[in-house]
Amino acid sequence: MPAPAELRIFDTATELFRNAAHEFVTLASQTVENKGRFCVALSGGSTPKNLYTLLAGEQAKAVPWDKSYFFFGDERHVPPDDPDSNYRMVNEAMFSKVPVPPGNVFRIHAEKDAAVAAQEYEETLRSFFDLQPNQLPRFDLILLGVGPDGHTASLFPDSAALNENKRLVVATWVEKLKTYRITFTFPVLNHAACVMFLASGADKAGIVHEVLENPNANLPSQKVHPDDGRLVWLVDHAAGGLLRRAG
Ligand code: 6PG
Repeated sequence: MPAPAELRIFDTATELFRNAAHEFVTLASQTVENKGRFCVALSGGSTPKNLYTLLAGEQAKAVPWDKSYFFFGDERHVPPDDPDSNYRMVNEAMFSKVPVPPGNVFRIHAEKDAAVAAQEYEETLRSFFDLQPNQLPRFDLILLGVGPDGHTASLFPDSAALNENKRLVVATWVEKLKTYRITFTFPVLNHAACVMFLASGADKAGIVHEVLENPNANLPSQKVHPDDGRLVWLVDHAAGGLLRRAG
């Protein structure tokens, strides 16, 4: 039975990202101590940039960069230097400023055909985690955001990718954005040791309330429940303002 979500509501966005950075560093250090390496999948969009900036700044000395391996939960179908690229965002906010070995960063080659990029990234996961045919990779941490329509990673409402239960990574056409995205599938998300959602700002209050307090909403973000891991929601008061718990 999946564990209930751990929900923490912070008064300000600054507190939210400080605590998210602390959670990240604590998990990375403990995991490296226990297993010798820390494997994390990063989220894109605008919300996590503040976290990456803190990890590259005030927390940089606390992150075991040489024993941390960075993947992406999804990517836009653009080259790595495109303003829309999740890789570009993380590289500018973090990778370019910290002593992470280049071989520890696994970006999605989204400059290629989307289906080819997805297949290649699946193969990268299979070889990095040394998986048997029906085995799933177990990330120590997967960071996620939530979109205004309840999507997470690039698992959008009504997309075929929602029902994928064999592939680890797929290319998915997003009609409303008229573009492909490359994304982890639910089996990968739900096999993680810890999944951490970040949500900040009043424009997220409605969807955060729907996802966490409307069991009938049937939103992609609601399908994220690690089978044997933690589900953590870190939100600021503006994003959590409609939650019963926000009081
Ligand atoms: C992406 C993300 C996506 C994001 C949400 C929220 O590539 O865009 O992976 O799932 O987390 O769309 O985006 P914001 O943080 O920009 O609101």
